[in-house]
Amino acid sequence: MSKPQIKAFVFDAYGTLFDVHSVIEKCNELFPDKGEEISKVWRQKQLEYSFLRQLMGKYTTFLEITKDALYYACKEAGVELSEGNKKELIKSYLKLEHYEEVESVLKELSSFQKAIFSNGSLDMLTPLVDQSSFGHLLDEVLTVDEVKQFKPTPMSYQLVLEKLGVRREEVLFMSSNPWDIAGATSFGFYTAWINRQDKVMDELGVKPHYEYRDLNGILEHIE
Ligand code: LAC
Repeated sequence: MSKPQIKAFVFDAYGTLFDVHSVIEKCNELFPDKGEEISKVWRQKQLEYSFLRQLMGKYTTFLEITKDALYYACKEAGVELSEGNKKELIKSYLKLEHYEEVESVLKELSSFQKAIFSNGSLDMLTPLVDQSSFGHLLDEVLTVDEVKQFKPTPMSYQLVLEKLGVRREEVLFMSSNPWDIAGATSFGFYTAWINRQDKVMDELGVKPHYEYRDLNGILEHIE
């Protein structure tokens, strides 16, 4: 495979730059000993609802889907989600911890375009990026909400090309989510699966071009 000529490094947000399970502490505070279970089902249903709503043609923002998924996760855990607790947990979702290598890697990419491309809506991405230490290092924060098409639809990835003014083969797309990597690879991006939990890649007919345990691995593309 000839060496890709990358012009834009594009990052998924949740699970790739930010740790969705950093809400476990708040979940445990409100619902002792149920934090891990609630956080796991919350993320699983958040993704599932985005896929199902896409298939149903019933788009709503990822923030609304995140609220619905939280409501389901609490119901399944047998706990009562008061309005106050819902507000507190959603607030913690707007200030998730980021992975420790993100800022140093973004600094190394100073001569390239750098963007987030996320299913998240700006009402959740903007506060999240603003409270991070690396928001100023990003050129763009792109949301599927502009086209109302969730990843992994081809229409969603098309937005990256339009907004960054690059061709698909000039993009290296990073995600920790196998389904997102499969969608981006199928669309024509070069892809780097950030396999933080050493998972097995899903069988979706395509493989990532690269696989790394964290974002430091992508720096081999700027040498
Ligand atoms: C994102 C979630 C779905 O798009 O990982 O950021």
